[in-house]
Amino acid sequence: MANNEVKPTYRPEVFHVKNLEHAKSIILTPEDSTTDERWEKETPYLADEAFPYLGLGPDKVVLDYGCGVGRMAKVLIERSGCTVIGVDISQQMRELAPAYVEDDRFTICARPAFEAMISNGLRVDAAIAIWVLQHCPNVKSEIDIIKSALKPSAPLFVCNNLQAVIPTNLGWVDTGFEVKTLLADNFDEISRSRLSPKFVAPLVSATSFVGKYKNKSD
Ligand SMILES: C[S@@+](CC[C@H](N)C(=O)[O-])C[C@H]1O[C@@H](n2cnc3c(N)ncnc32)[C@H](O)[C@@H]1O
Repeated sequence: MANNEVKPTYRPEVFHVKNLEHAKSIILTPEDSTTDERWEKETPYLADEAFPYLGLGPDKVVLDYGCGVGRMAKVLIERSGCTVIGVDISQQMRELAPAYVEDDRFTICARPAFEAMISNGLRVDAAIAIWVLQHCPNVKSEIDIIKSALKPSAPLFVCNNLQAVIPTNLGWVDTGFEVKTLLADNFDEISRSRLSPKFVAPLVSATSFVGKYKNKSD
């Protein structure tokens, strides 16, 4: 008997954005709020959560994995004077980010360039991955890159959906992996909690988490 079931195919083209407004609408979908409201409320809230943990200052280099237009990178640089290396799969995000962050301490590259830097010895002092790992169908490979980029025992701050949300030809699909389990298997988990409903819509709070991790010591 013919099997007519259509299988979802990974379509990262959803991240091929036209301009900054389009990028923002993909980065923070409304989820019972609006993109603008989320941008205004959630950005300083996440920075407050991440900042004391990451131990940032002008001498620190931070990886922002899946940085988008640099929403979080911009705040971290403004607050601490750190240097941020953004990595993003989307060429359009990579083109928009420098103008959004507007700071010489920000630089951005694609994954192959970043992997070459790691192979040549680059190690960063801290990393963040905000609303990205849930979108990666082979997320273990992204986790491996973050791990190999971090110095031993260096901090990682993650904000993520509890469920996978993979962009496909059939829309956003939960392919069943749990980022929180993979993170706990690969890093030392320091804490994990829901996002505060004071700063995000109840729907976002109920379906996501923020986690603080440390890279394994050598
Ligand atoms: C929801 S947005 C979040 C952007 C940013 N972290 C923020 O919170 O403002 C997800 C971002 O991850 C990027 N992305 C998706 N899959 C990726 C991958 N496998 N490697 C690197 N970046 C990825 C997308 O292009 C997009 O910019």
